[in-house]
Amino acid sequence: MFSSPVIFMQIVAYLCFAGAKILGSTDDLLNQYDFIIVGGGTAGNVVANRLSADRRTTVLVIEAGGSNDVLDLQIPYLWTSLIGSAYDWNSTSTPQSGLGNRSVTLARGIGLGGSSSINAMLYTLGSADNYDAIAELVNDESWSWNRLQPFFGKDVTQPGSPSSPASDMIEVAPPRFYQPTDDRIMQTTQENSEFPFNNNTNSGKQLGFGWSKSTIAPDGTRSSSRTVYLKPEVINRPNLHVLLNTQATRLLQLDRADRTRFNGVEFVESVHAKREIILSAGAYGTPHILLNSGIGDARDLNSVGVTPRHELPSVGHNLTDHSLTTLTWTVNSTTTYESIRRNETLWATLLEQWRRNGTGDFSSSGIDHVACLRLPSTADIFNSVQDPSAGPNTGHFEIIITNGNIFGGPTSDNLIAATLMVLTPMSRGFVKLNSAHPLDKAAINPSYLSHRFDQYTMREAIRSTQRFFDSPAWEGYVLSRAGDYAAVDLQDDNELDAYIRDNVVSGLHPVGSSSMSPRGASWGVTDPDLKVKGLKGLRVVDASVIPLIPAAHTQGPTYIYAERAADIIKKDWDTV
Ligand SMILES: Cc1cc2nc3c(=O)[nH]c(=O)nc-3n(C[C@H](O)[C@H](O)[C@H](O)COP(=O)(O)OP(=O)(O)OC[C@H]3O[C@@H](n4cnc5c(N)ncnc54)[C@H](O)[C@@H]3O)c2cc1C
Ligand SMILES: *[C@@H]1O[C@H](CO)[C@@H](O)[C@H](O)[C@H]1NC(C)=O
Ligand SMILES: *[C@@H]1O[C@H](CO)[C@@H](O)[C@H](O)[C@H]1NC(C)=O
Ligand SMILES: *[C@@H]1O[C@H](CO)[C@@H](O)[C@H](O)[C@H]1NC(C)=O
Ligand SMILES: *[C@@H]1O[C@H](CO)[C@@H](O)[C@H](O)[C@H]1NC(C)=O
Ligand SMILES: *[C@@H]1O[C@H](CO)[C@@H](O)[C@H](O)[C@H]1NC(C)=O
Ligand SMILES: *[C@@H]1O[C@H](CO)[C@@H](O)[C@H](O)[C@H]1NC(C)=O
Ligand SMILES: *[C@@H]1O[C@H](CO)[C@@H](O)[C@H](O)[C@H]1NC(C)=O
Repeated sequence: MFSSPVIFMQIVAYLCFAGAKILGSTDDLLNQYDFIIVGGGTAGNVVANRLSADRRTTVLVIEAGGSNDVLDLQIPYLWTSLIGSAYDWNSTSTPQSGLGNRSVTLARGIGLGGSSSINAMLYTLGSADNYDAIAELVNDESWSWNRLQPFFGKDVTQPGSPSSPASDMIEVAPPRFYQPTDDRIMQTTQENSEFPFNNNTNSGKQLGFGWSKSTIAPDGTRSSSRTVYLKPEVINRPNLHVLLNTQATRLLQLDRADRTRFNGVEFVESVHAKREIILSAGAYGTPHILLNSGIGDARDLNSVGVTPRHELPSVGHNLTDHSLTTLTWTVNSTTTYESIRRNETLWATLLEQWRRNGTGDFSSSGIDHVACLRLPSTADIFNSVQDPSAGPNTGHFEIIITNGNIFGGPTSDNLIAATLMVLTPMSRGFVKLNSAHPLDKAAINPSYLSHRFDQYTMREAIRSTQRFFDSPAWEGYVLSRAGDYAAVDLQDDNELDAYIRDNVVSGLHPVGSSSMSPRGASWGVTDPDLKVKGLKGLRVVDASVIPLIPAAHTQGPTYIYAERAADIIKKDWDTV
């Protein structure tokens, strides 16, 4: 019934960008395109680049935000200031029962590049087991670690790492700016066997402390799906159109494609996709559009007044995210982030250095090391809960050490910070509609720490991190625990739990809300070819199709999925 889908759009505003093949207005739209991609974010731009490489194929990208061609997005150091900015959708969760009913902010990027334009640029892949578990779950070997190798990002520094000969691949590099704390971190890996050094945590075996890899280009600027996959020569392709500041509201069946106005100011228009519509609106945006279109659980849809058009009860369900908390300690040093943040002269000097030659603190996200660690196999939680990790090479939690609190406001102290994440959460949440109005916000409930395994793991991650800083390497440097954390009795589970409830926030890695599942399965939203089950001409390509959250920051897996998705689509349509 969806055989010739049409996109129904609400035009909010237009922007014109000289020199770029970005549409100035909807007047310039073609009557139809071979492919319409909803969301010019991380995954969407990969697909747009690959499909438009065949000049006979017409492609339209519809992006809710703007061009994102601004300095703040290019400077790696400024990434934390982008949270809550004009480049963030500023979403908020529903009250989280696992967090004492607190709501938390859920940053996600808006504008070309999507979340890759505002993220922390860490490029981690998780374990090979993560990919193999998904291939097994969806019963399709082509999603396995080995078979995905051609789609991995281009490591511009480390020979022997997974890489691909394809052009316009996301670039990945180790830190180019060394933090004064790096040596002590490395020393700790030699002093304490709980924290072994791993020289390539992206090899498929992720356990241990390793140097971080980041999507930062050799010139010290952020590398995003906007800068790599939509560079000027791509955006100028005559067969690729990019429509900005346009929020897609829902997908319509052709026979119901009447032109309808939402209100007196804005107007609507429709575009035909000759071949396919590709939803790349992210783990919150994609289920929202599907539900607005009547694709979802009929009972839920009816309850808010949306007419069900295609029964697919899993849409929006199984939303999974990492939970995150940051601990800080005061240190015997003045060369930390805090000193940069409170000293305008130093700030200006470093910014000028970055402008001149792309080096120094401003060329770094501030994250030099990432550690993925396991709970001991003897942990008592395993008496009652089956280990949710994908295998013995997969971490249960992550520790990131930073030379100062990169999330913190101005302070007179100097700090060292550890940011912890539960990598194998068992909590599952949902995205649901609040109303039938397609521009209303959806209810987003990641259900952080609603499963006691997640709470247990966060507790043990905190204890492990404290042992890390109790290592001799930090003597005379780490002075005392800071903030609310200072008063917590680490022996007392209840006190730790209370601290966690009050302080955990989103890990910003939502996946699973439009899960891929085996062909013919009674659950899931897409088949392993990423086509929406039971419909024609509609695919999902973004983080929402990843059915099991990897023990990784999710841009790496998202880029890999998008590269393979583009390959599948090109083969299906026999384009080059
Ligand atoms: C602040 C932050 C920091 C992060 N740090 C890291 C990190 O260091 N490393 C890492 O690996 N991952 C990180 N992540 C996560 C990672 O960036 C995401 O998992 C990944 O980018 C998701 O890609 P996506 O294509 O699924 O969605 P997105 O990149 O979010 O793209 C979705 C796009 O669709 C657009 N859109 C949504 N709805 C509509 C609509 N109705 N109509 C038109 N357009 C629409 C959005 O504006 C956006 O451009 C971070 C995320 C955030 C927010
Ligand atoms: C997010 O909030 C900030 C601060 O209030 C605001 O400036 C920005 O425009 C908001 N983002 C969007 C996309 O509305
Ligand atoms: C959280 O909200 C639920 C439902 O409203 C309520 O039953 C519960 O007591 C609340 N918990 C706390 C800690 O306030
Ligand atoms: C890590 O690997 C790199 C590149 O392969 C190598 O140059 C370096 O010496 C290794 N470091 C350690 C500590 O093994
Ligand atoms: C959630 O995912 C699991 C597989 O991980 C599946 O068995 C279950 O049916 C899914 N639930 C929904 C509501 O889709
Ligand atoms: C601020 O930074 C400048 C430049 O590095 C330095 O000379 C000055 O001493 C700093 N001020 C303070 C108060 O630390
Ligand atoms: C970059 O500029 C700074 C001064 O602003 C200088 O100290 C540094 O050596 C330069 N680095 C390179 C690689 O040119
Ligand atoms: C701070 O470090 C200096 C050496 O750099 C040392 O002499 C001093 O004792 C340290 N202070 C504390 C409180 O440990």
